[in-house]
Order: sequence, then structure tokens, then C-alpha cells
Amino acid sequence: MRGIYAHLRASQDVSVLADYLEVPGLGFLPVNAFVIHAAQPVVVDTGLGLPDRDFVAALAEVIDPADVAWIWLTHPDRDHTGGLFALLDAAPHARVVTTFVGAGVMSAERPLPLDRIYLLNPGQSLEAGDRRLTGFRPPLFDNPATVGVLDTSTGTCLSSDCFGAPLPTADLATARDAAAADQDDLRAAQLLWATVDSPWMHAVDPAKFAASLAPLRDFAPCAIYSTHSPPLTGDSAAVFDTLLGAPQASPFTGPDQAALEAMLRQFEPA
Ligand SMILES: [Fe+2]
Ligand SMILES: [Fe+2]
Repeated sequence: MRGIYAHLRASQDVSVLADYLEVPGLGFLPVNAFVIHAAQPVVVDTGLGLPDRDFVAALAEVIDPADVAWIWLTHPDRDHTGGLFALLDAAPHARVVTTFVGAGVMSAERPLPLDRIYLLNPGQSLEAGDRRLTGFRPPLFDNPATVGVLDTSTGTCLSSDCFGAPLPTADLATARDAAAADQDDLRAAQLLWATVDSPWMHAVDPAKFAASLAPLRDFAPCAIYSTHSPPLTGDSAAVFDTLLGAPQASPFTGPDQAALEAMLRQFEPA
């Protein structure tokens, strides 16, 4: 089994720092961070904050952390902020790309230094030296601060939580490409994740939801880098078709206390 932080250099100037979380009943959820190797290097999200993870050390196998110019925080959920403050220390010139809401959410636990923040809303762009990176609102999200990244110079998209999929094994969760998974399983897992991460979608008009997918679909990314999926390359149309079914998918209900107690009883000595 591949350990945490597999380093996958993909073809579109993107490195993947591939990690995962085992979620009881769901499977192995990929938890990725990325490096966009722009002239001004951009780290996108900073992984889990578990005690045995060392995000900066993992990053150092891909790039000198001191060279990082931007830390694009797609949203301040805890599976995206684990290495944030250690990286701010290791990358003294880096600034955190986030939104007003993102900075506000962070301030509830540990405020970001104001001189290290760069506020960017969906539709606005970041000049990263040799390319312009444009923020966009992914069609599915679980946090109002969410801003994904479009790199028009390579035709890639970094979609934050959107397009995630818990997979049957840790190896698949950290695979080089989502093509390694059985494609029927992958589609089912993408739908399941959509209902877990964006339960609001069941209240959405399917036609309006389809319209919200159109701008990204028209962009026709050659690769989709989700924080919760192995890289999705090749024909992106199938991914969008899968997501179109999300408003009609069965709502997710998590285990309740009775289920937890049943689970705990399995661990009790006979
Ligand atoms: Fe999230
Ligand atoms: Fe997430």
C-alpha cells in the first residue's frame, strides 16, 4: 500500500500530494493538495492536520517550500488547512489566497496575518508570473468560501471538494489517475460524495443545476484535480453527466447513535 503523501507529478504543471482518510462505511476518501508549478509557485490547499502528517516535509520533496509564492486555500475546512501555518512559516513570502468569508472563518480559530492575505472572489484572477489563474465557484461545494482554480494556460481545473469520490482501497484513493478505479464504482462514489458533501443539492432545480455546470463543462478541462478524487483526465463529459444526476440521487443519512453502539459492541471482548 502506498503511504501518505504519494507525490504524483502530473503532466499539466501540477504535482499532487496524495493523502487519504478512511471513513467508516464509505471507504477511503482521497485528501489531496497540489502544487501548480507556475513561475510564482502556487500551493493549493494544505492537507490534513493529523499529528502524524508533516505537510511541509512532504511538500519539500516537490518544491523548496521557501519558494512558494501563493497558498491558494480553496476553502478553510480542516481537511484543507492542516499544514497552513507551518507553511506560512516555511514560505516567508507566500500569501494566502482566500475570500473575505474564508479569512473570517479562519479568524474563529487562528487568524491569518492580514499582511499575508490576498482576497480573491470567483471570477477574479491571480497573476502567477507566467500564467493567470482564475477563481471559479465549483458547481458543488460545502463551504461558502469555496473558490476553485482554472488554469487556462494548461486547460486544467482544480475543483476543491467537487467531483470527490470515496474509493474501496487506499491504493485507489492515492492513484495516479481515477481511471485506475472501476468506472461504474467511480460514478457511484462521485454521486454518493455529492450527496454527503453538498446535501443542499436535493433542494435545487435540476435545470438550474445543469446550467450552473455549463461554464465548467464548456471550459472542457483536460484534467480535473479534485481534493477528494484521484486526477480525472481524459473525457470530462462523463464526469459532468454523472454530476447531472446528483439532485435525483438518494440523500445521504449518516450512522446514528444506535449504529455507533452496534459498531462499538463488535469491538467488545466476548
Ligand atoms: Fe469541504
Ligand atoms: Fe474537503
